[in-house]
Amino acid sequence: MDIDGSEEDPEMKKYSAVCVGREEDIKKSERMTAVVHDREVVIFYHKGEYHAMDIRCYHSGGPLHLGDIEEFDGRPCIVCPWHKYKITLATGEGLYQSINPKDPSAKPKWCSKGIKQRIHKVTVDNGNIYVTLSKEPFKCDSDFYATGVFKVIKSSS
Ligand code: FES
Repeated sequence: MDIDGSEEDPEMKKYSAVCVGREEDIKKSERMTAVVHDREVVIFYHKGEYHAMDIRCYHSGGPLHLGDIEEFDGRPCIVCPWHKYKITLATGEGLYQSINPKDPSAKPKWCSKGIKQRIHKVTVDNGNIYVTLSKEPFKCDSDFYATGVFKVIKSSS
């Protein structure tokens, strides 16, 4: 039964939740990769919370599923294995350290570049993990590597 019309409307279908695996498996592996409506995503399980984001780093397309998770300024981040960019798991913000050049004694401070990596929604139902792609209308830098010529998974249509 097509309750929400998503089977008919391809735009709606793109934003329907997709089952990507079992809760018990991701709790063991702490990360998994999936293709959700032709978009590659990585799902992390970190300190009891789920986070999903585009798998390719917004900077140059690095494989975020191979990065380490570390905390910066109290915020858990995935560190891209290619050039060590730090991306917050919860919001997809790019973090960097800055120092006030007029004050050489100042300690470097963590700052945000804003949202750079697109974050997707994770839900759990009956032991299954579902990912729903982000519908946020802003242009996110990671879209570049998740769509078009850089997309690894080609649509069959
Ligand atoms: Fe991720 Fe450069 S590709 S930091």
